[in-house]
Amino acid sequence: MTLQQEINKRKTFGIISHPDAGKTTLTEKLLLFGGAIQIAGAVKSNKITKTATSDFMEIEKQRGISVATSVMSFHYKDKIVNILDTPGHKDFAEDTYRTLTAVDSVILVIDSVKGVEEQTRKLMQVCRMRSTPVIVFINKLDREGRDPFDLLEELEKELSISVRPLSWPIGMGKTFKGVYLMYNHSLNLFEASKTKRTDEVVTLKGIDDPQLPALIGEKASEQLAHDIEFVEELYEPFDPAMYQEGLLAPVFFGSAVNNFGVKELLDTFVELAPGPRARPTNVREVEPLEPKFSGFVFKIHANLDPNHRDRIAFLRVCSGKFERNKFFNHVRLHKNLRFNNPYNFMAQSKSIIEEAYPGDVVGLYDTGNFKIGDTLTEGEEIMFMGIPSFSPEIFKEVINTDPMKTKQLEKGIEQLTDEGVAQLFRQQPGNRKYIGTVGELQFEVIQHRLKHEYNASCRFDNVQFHKACWMTGPTTALNDFCKYKQKEIVLDKDGNRVFLAQTPYVLRMARENNPEITFHETSEFKVGIG
Ligand code: G4P
Repeated sequence: MTLQQEINKRKTFGIISHPDAGKTTLTEKLLLFGGAIQIAGAVKSNKITKTATSDFMEIEKQRGISVATSVMSFHYKDKIVNILDTPGHKDFAEDTYRTLTAVDSVILVIDSVKGVEEQTRKLMQVCRMRSTPVIVFINKLDREGRDPFDLLEELEKELSISVRPLSWPIGMGKTFKGVYLMYNHSLNLFEASKTKRTDEVVTLKGIDDPQLPALIGEKASEQLAHDIEFVEELYEPFDPAMYQEGLLAPVFFGSAVNNFGVKELLDTFVELAPGPRARPTNVREVEPLEPKFSGFVFKIHANLDPNHRDRIAFLRVCSGKFERNKFFNHVRLHKNLRFNNPYNFMAQSKSIIEEAYPGDVVGLYDTGNFKIGDTLTEGEEIMFMGIPSFSPEIFKEVINTDPMKTKQLEKGIEQLTDEGVAQLFRQQPGNRKYIGTVGELQFEVIQHRLKHEYNASCRFDNVQFHKACWMTGPTTALNDFCKYKQKEIVLDKDGNRVFLAQTPYVLRMARENNPEITFHETSEFKVGIG
């Protein structure tokens, strides 16, 4: 098979939602329809099996949230579908943002009762920033949700994206009868079932088909005809090109837990969703079709067995062909590395692979060579962009509580922050260490893992910082500012100087008093969301 054919087969995407909208359920149902798992409940029960072997995962179990981001691949029709799972909990939002750098499109799940929620807005901001194509799945139609027109209006208004329904619900909650698929005039009748796997659709001649009242009742068919007329008036016909540019989101309605509406979502997804796209580097755009391999690490996962310190780096292949045992250039370290047992995540089992293509995610055993954002190439000195650090929201100082274990603590903090669990800022002189996170939960994760994996213990003291700002400007102005603000200047993981502003006022004053300096709330300036 040619590289072009391999590329055309791949569909790599993420499912995003505000917690509880049904992301885990939909993921599982897609796997079920894709034949990757045989029974419902496997994704969740798999989570629990993992927790048995990992203290880190114990935290996830206790809190019932998905901390880890993983990859699930399966064959569907003639495609290879790679789902990159993202943690829904807001404390792990940064992990999700990073995973979104590795996808080519997303499915956004909305709870029909709740509509657009806080995390929905934030995640969509990241998608818009990168023009990621989005398909919307409005879930939980078996419950008394909001009016579909209201929901669509809210999506457009709050997420600044045009929408186009491709299916339409007939009633909802107790009166939910199914959905009408506008693109092929068929009717998918609802039957609450957690096990049903095929959608039996009735093909109609159109919305005026005389079969309709017999199937859904007189009143419901009148309402449906009225709704569809209104939809056709209100929304432009669906334009796949606009979807691919991230400007228009097709919308589907369904009920994930009842396996309803999932098959048409998957069928449309494999047809419409873009394959691997070009990706920006610090030098040029890299096209998937380029013959030479390149890829980047978007996630590092601690080994689930705490007795083995090695980790798994998740590499997204961007161009060419990745090959087992071939030497590749680790650009940041200027080092040639090869991998004996790279693996993929096909159907939930890991297997060693010989090669991988753009769109694929490869698991690499790592003994400490990788940081998030690292690039591997066949020689070229380029670094993939779009994997910025965002300004944390909570900062704490690390205080060593066991001086006999200083080395372990240093190493633990360093490795955990390399994994992207949190950001580490060092202050010189004095070697004070500040940890910055998006939520409180990470501090617990760090403390727990330091103790169990590194045998080190620490305390976190509160410090009053509002934002971390990366700076650009003339060298003398930067040097002067850093000298003047010495107590608030720290170094990030790459040795860049960062200004920790104590309050919004301090930051505003710094901006006003130093017009030559630009203060950025992300470490990559072109793509910031802050
Ligand atoms: P998340 O990953 O987005 O956080 O959501 P998740 O899939 O865990 O779903 C959150 C809750 O919503 C779950 O209930 C799930 O069963 C339920 N749910 C998902 N899809 C639908 C749907 O179509 N209709 C209805 N009525 N509920 C749905 P739970 O009680 O929190 O967990 P569980 O005990 O059912 O697993």
